[in-house]
Amino acid sequence: MMKVRLIAAALLLATALPAIADTAAPTPPPRRLMQRGGQFPMQDGEAIYKGVCQGCHMPDAKGAVGAGAYPALAKDPNLEIAGYPVGVIVKGQKAMPGFADSFSDEQIANVVNYVRTHFGNRYRDKVKPEDVKIMR
Ligand code: HEC
Repeated sequence: MMKVRLIAAALLLATALPAIADTAAPTPPPRRLMQRGGQFPMQDGEAIYKGVCQGCHMPDAKGAVGAGAYPALAKDPNLEIAGYPVGVIVKGQKAMPGFADSFSDEQIANVVNYVRTHFGNRYRDKVKPEDVKIMR
């Protein structure tokens, strides 16, 4: 009897939880996707941003505060030194996961170049795949 009750309670909890999680603004990409490693098919910086980064940093790159704080990448003076965003993406930083195992050097260079030249950022010097390689 006790066991049946426990199962019923667990089921209730399982159905109630997603509803609570829904109220948080940013929706990070599924963990499953991030742990597979080297599996993101898109190469283009914009496609990578849309597929992976905007879930946390938002489509307009203005960031969000919800379940956590996701900084804006729009008009972000921290992007001036290209090595900084490369390092954050390769190694991760606090609540942001590292993507070293998920992306090739080229993919990371592409998304960094995209972010540094969009959303009000005008840093024209290009990051090359070799620049990413030395940060790993
Ligand atoms: C799971 C959520 C999440 C995803 C996905 C994510 N980020 Fe982040 N990002 C964060 C958080 C949280 C921080 C702040 C880390 C800290 O507290 O220092 C951050 C910080 C950054 C910073 C540093 C910003 C600054 O001004 O210091 C850059 C650059 C960045 N992310 C780029 C990206 C790019 C490009 C992608 C896609 C490849 C991406 N992020 C994907 C959560 C995420």
